Amino acid sequence: MLIPGCGAAYEAVAFHEAGYEVIAIDFSPEAVAAAARALGPLQRAVRLGDFFQYDFGTIPFDIIYERAFLCSLPRRLRPAYRTRVSELLRPGGLVLGFFFYDASESGPPFGLGEGELDDLLKGRFVLEAEEKTYSSVPVFAGKERWQIWRRLEI
Ligand SMILES: C[S@@+](CC[C@H](N)C(=O)[O-])C[C@H]1O[C@@H](n2cnc3c(N)ncnc32)[C@H](O)[C@@H]1O
Repeated sequence: MLIPGCGAAYEAVAFHEAGYEVIAIDFSPEAVAAAARALGPLQRAVRLGDFFQYDFGTIPFDIIYERAFLCSLPRRLRPAYRTRVSELLRPGGLVLGFFFYDASESGPPFGLGEGELDDLLKGRFVLEAEEKTYSSVPVFAGKERWQIWRRLEI
């Protein structure tokens, strides 16, 4: 599984302990250094690079985990996000995590409008599950939704 825009990559430990082979990436040297400090031996999982450009090799991911990455991107990059997650995931693979919904035009974080993610991902992904969340940091409180999107077999 892949954690793009991982920051300090604190979730990598939980996924690793759950049995996943984790790769995490961030283009900020400070974030990667913080992740390396936090992860100990698991720091080998962390890459310094641009999610949109990095060569992850030819084996597609089963899962791409989202938390506060999509909303950190300028809105103009959303089509590129759709293309990139589509090409990095195997057919049937999942984009899952916490998606930030907010009507405000300003950012970052740049929130999703109602139906906007559906419009972005439709034709390539189908929404399989959605839940309210209760563990957000204050800036995201009440505005994050847990969602699971499955890449269609195309
Ligand atoms: C708001 S932070 C979220 C960090 C982490 N996911 C969390 O929940 O704490 C967004 C992160 O995405 C990284 N980022 C933004 N664009 C990126 C890109 N194109 N490639 C890799 N990392 C990127 C930033 O450096 C930043 O660390």
